Amino acid sequence: QNERDSQFIVSDFAKNHYHRLLLNSEEGMSIGYGYLKERGLNLSTIQTFELGYSLDSWDDLMKAAEKAGYDKKYLEKSGLIVTKTDDQGHDTGRRYDRFRGRVMFPIHNISGRVVGFGARTLKRDDKMAKYLNSPESDIYHKSDVLYGLFQARQAIRTEEVCYLVEGYLDVLSLYQGGIKNVVASSGTSLTEGQIRLIKRYSDNVTVLYDGDAAGIKASLRGTDLLLEGGLNVRVVLFPDGDDPDSYIRKVGDQRFADYIEKSSQDFISFKTTLVAREASNDPVKKAEAIRDVLHSIAKVPDAIKRQVFLQQTSATFGIDEQVLITEYNKLVKAPAA
Ligand code: CTP
Ligand code: MN
Ligand code: MN
Ligand code: MN
Ligand code: MN
Repeated sequence: QNERDSQFIVSDFAKNHYHRLLLNSEEGMSIGYGYLKERGLNLSTIQTFELGYSLDSWDDLMKAAEKAGYDKKYLEKSGLIVTKTDDQGHDTGRRYDRFRGRVMFPIHNISGRVVGFGARTLKRDDKMAKYLNSPESDIYHKSDVLYGLFQARQAIRTEEVCYLVEGYLDVLSLYQGGIKNVVASSGTSLTEGQIRLIKRYSDNVTVLYDGDAAGIKASLRGTDLLLEGGLNVRVVLFPDGDDPDSYIRKVGDQRFADYIEKSSQDFISFKTTLVAREASNDPVKKAEAIRDVLHSIAKVPDAIKRQVFLQQTSATFGIDEQVLITEYNKLVKAPAA
């Protein structure tokens, strides 16, 4: 327990250090703050999310932490410092800062304590990972946090819906544009732990993933899990090449809000439309597509909702409802296909 407390304390120190660098150092202001301004973020958003900047240096954080009297051990345990090992995996005794020359996105737990960081490079070099994240630690379990939930939780309650996006910048841009009930899965596929977190605040989720093939795939994958969790799932598709951040910047806050309102579809209709489109007129593919949708419907715990979805699906595909229900019953009795 003491160990965890020490890790919380050094994470908080690092967050404050990075935040101070972003707003008060020459490098941080010109490079880090300049970047965020270019991406349309204002000071108020930067402060609400406690964004920061890590200097392009091997040991700036390490030195600052030492000077402030923190034990390096805890910086290592929370992944802020990397231990260099040799080919055999033995400690070489060399240490360096994990995050260098990046914009820092602190990740808060629901009590607002910092548990880890996401960090974006500002270089246009493809060899470098665009985002670097804190490794798993005693206080950071990637599968049990949602970026932005700490800032969004009240709005999710009052708006009675949680918007789910992929990335840090999507959360920040939407929040700044007045959509405060937004959280990010941070690129990974959704987990049961994250779904349980959402359910504490609302039963309604609207998925706003990137408008590329990967985003659509992720929406399809993640949502079966949301359905199983008993959540009401809606989906919004963005034009190919846009994500929520780029789209809200393009069209403005009001038109973005209208777009979400108008183009959000219930998940089953979304899936039905997608697979129906892919299957076109090939009867074999069409049958497969229908079974695919039936599998998703089977995940919905509420029997009345299942019934409504079955009716909808029969209408969309132009299949007799009784035939569909017979097929559905066969499928749920059969072992998982
Ligand atoms: N991500 C990550 N590591 C990567 C790429 C992505 O952890 N190498 C996560 C980040 O949380 C990121 C999210 O996946 O925010 C979505 O990825 P992507 O759409 O590629 O990035 P954006 O968030 O759109 O970032 P940007 O607009 O700055 O390019
Ligand atoms: Mn634990
Ligand atoms: Mn993407
Ligand atoms: Mn994106
Ligand atoms: Mn983006």
